This record gives sequence, structure tokens and C-alpha cells, in this order.
Amino acid sequence: MENILITGGAGYVGSHITLNILKRGLKVIVLDSFVNSSKDVFNNFCKVIDKKILKRNFKIITGDIRDRKLLNDIFEDNAKRECAISSVIHCAGLKSVQTSIINPKEYWDVNVLGTMNLVDIMESYSCKKIIFSSSATVYDPSEGDLLHENSRISPINPYGSTKFVVEKFLEDIHKSSKNEWKCINLRYFNPIGADPEGIIGESPLKEKNNIFPLIMDVASKKLEKFTIFGNDWDSSDGTCVRDYIHIDDLAESHIRALEYLNNNTPVFMNLNVGTGEGTSVLELIKKFEETNQISIPFIYGERRKGDFGTVVADNRLAKKVLAWIPKKDLKDMCKDGWNWFSNTII
Ligand code: NAD
Ligand code: UD1
Repeated sequence: MENILITGGAGYVGSHITLNILKRGLKVIVLDSFVNSSKDVFNNFCKVIDKKILKRNFKIITGDIRDRKLLNDIFEDNAKRECAISSVIHCAGLKSVQTSIINPKEYWDVNVLGTMNLVDIMESYSCKKIIFSSSATVYDPSEGDLLHENSRISPINPYGSTKFVVEKFLEDIHKSSKNEWKCINLRYFNPIGADPEGIIGESPLKEKNNIFPLIMDVASKKLEKFTIFGNDWDSSDGTCVRDYIHIDDLAESHIRALEYLNNNTPVFMNLNVGTGEGTSVLELIKKFEETNQISIPFIYGERRKGDFGTVVADNRLAKKVLAWIPKKDLKDMCKDGWNWFSNTII
């Protein structure tokens, strides 16, 4: 049976992938340092997965991807028990643009050195399949056109630089290893929402900067008002446009990517994971209000430094290669996100 290591598997993206893979009956090991998540995220898994299956197929390990000995022990232990780790979904990392500008060394250390460690240990155990959590932040979206995989790459902050160099590192590893490595970099656009059964959602421990958790803080009255960063952008209502994608559709793209790696010859690929649909900040707020019948008071503030007006994916390649289609719309994202938040967090 496949045994998959998910680094950062307790985080927002990783936990949704973990749940989806476990539901398919595969084995998962989560390695997470819990710097931005908590073990409690797994508490409700037993509501949707049989306890015996969980006990057999699911293991949580607390640790850091920079700890080579720990990584080695994990691979060694599984190889000895004849359930060698077959693939890695690598979500562990730091993701705040603002903090990366203040402390770039930490970002290069965790995101870049952490990945180099991981790949090195993987190689020594002949585990050569990796799916990496990359980001649309690698692109230069200043033209406002749909971004396709060959669009201009130009990260403008340390976080983006770390994503880009890891992508290149994986490409070099693939090329240098007589093409034995199978690597897919999934460039996420803007995942929001929560799993439709309300088992897990987005609950970062560190500062919240992303739009959806902040909208939910306003909805639950933890925050008085939402601040829209600028209303003078080149869009229909003047607010920024993004490509929001349901977290469940994003998780599904990893499962398709795993299947693709299992069924194809060694490959290196960058794929956009978005819906291809642009939504403005104002449209998202209105959809949230309408779907959940809750008012979101907001004010207009200054543009945020480093923002772009429009960031939307050309997702045709991912749809074609992975035979994957994002199924959920903005209403599902607002409904499922709030359903989880209002039942779990408040
Ligand atoms: P998250 O912070 O919720 O999850 C990351 C997880 O990695 C956390 O559980 C954290 O505790 C863990 N972690 C951090 N440093 C670690 C280390 N050194 N060793 C082991 N574990 C460590 O973030 P997320 O939103 O789930 O993002 C997952 C990945 O996807 C990240 O690499 C992020 O850069 C990337 N990404 C996210 C988005 C997004 O909008 N959420 C967009 C593009 C790319
Ligand atoms: C941000 C990061 C990106 C990273 C991604 C996931 C920046 C410039 N980009 O993307 O590199 O990969 O998060 O972590 O930080 N907004 C408001 N008010 C708020 C918060 C957000 O108006 O309080 C707007 C933003 O201007 C943007 C949209 O909401 O237009 C989405 O913002 P956010 O969730 O932070 O995602 P990105 O900026 O797309």
C-alpha cells in the first residue's frame, strides 16, 4: 500500500490533503513542527474515518524538516517495517510575505534548506516522487493577464524567492538524476473555505494576513471592520481581483498529481492550481454576506505594499494533465468556510 509523507500536514492546506488521502484508504505520515498549527486539527478525523483505519493508516510525528536525523529515522523506520515511504507531499514552510521581508534568513532556512534536507534524505531511501506546495507569488502579474505556467517569473519578496528557488532546485535534481525524479510544483492561487463536512478549516496560530480568515473574524465580531486594501485598482469596482479556489478542490489536485506521478515516467512540471475565475475583494465580501446572511462592515484603506491588481490562473494545463476540474464555486467556499468557523472556532 502507498505510504505518503505529508510535511506540514497539520497546516491549512496539508490537513485537507491528509484528510482526503486517508479517506481513500492510503497510509499517511504527517511530519509537522506545529509552529503554525495544532495537533487538535486531527481530533475530528474519527468522525469521518473509522478509528481502526486511522490507527492503522495514520501517524503524526512532531519535528522539523531541518532535522536530518529525524528525517532519516522516519524513512529508515518505515523501510524496515516494509512500508517504505513512496511519495512526499511537501507543504511544510513559512508563508507570511511580511515576516519574510523582516526575517529573510529564517525563510531561506526553513523553506529552502528544509527542502534540500528532505530531498537529500528522500534520495538516500530511493523515494523520488515529490509534490511541492508552490505559489502564484512566483509570477510577475503586473500585466493583469491570465497567468500561465510560462508567464514571466519575478518574485518580489523573500517568500516568493524561496518558492522559486525550490522549484528550480527540484528541476535541477530531476535533470541531474538521469531523470529518475518525478516532481510536480503546484502553484496555488488563493485557497479559501473549509472541508464541506466541517471537520477541519483554517486556523493559523501566527498572525492572520490572508483575506478569508479576516473576513470570518469580522463575521464573528472578533474584528470590528474589514479593511479593503485600495479601491483604485484597474478592476470593475476598483478592488483587487484574485483567483479563489475551494480548499477541497486544491486538496484533490494533489491526489490527482500523486496518481499522475505513479502512472507516468519521470517528469518535472509546474502546474497552476486555480479556477481561472477572477473575483474582486468587494465581490467576495458580498458573496459571503449573501451566502451566510451576515453583514461584513468594511472600510477602504491604502493599497498594501507589494499587492497586484489582478492575479488569476490560466488553469488549462493542470486540468488537462491531471484530469482535474475545480468543482466548487464561490458560494461553496463562503458556506463551507463559515460553517466550519462558526461551529468550531467561535
Ligand atoms: P500553514 O502555515 O497552515 O501550514 C504550514 C505547516 O507547516 C504548518 O502546520 C507549520 O506548523 C508547518 N511547518 C512550518 N515550518 C516547519 C518546519 N520547519 N518543519 C516542519 N513543519 C513546519 O500554511 P498553508 O496555508 O497550509 O500552506 C502550506 C504550503 O502551501 C506552504 O508551503 C505555503 O507557502 C504554500 N502556499 C499556501 C498558500 C495559501 O494561500 N494558503 C498559497 C500558496 C502557497
Ligand atoms: C498573499 C501573498 C502571497 C501568498 C498568499 C498565501 C501578498 C502580497 N501576497 O496573496 O504571496 O502566496 O498570500 O499566503 O502578501 N485584502 C484586503 N484586506 C485584507 C487582506 C487582504 O483587502 O485585510 C485583499 C488583498 O489586497 C488581496 C486579496 O485580499 O487583493 C487577497 O489577499 P491575501 O489573502 O493576502 O492573498 P494574496 O495577496 O493574493
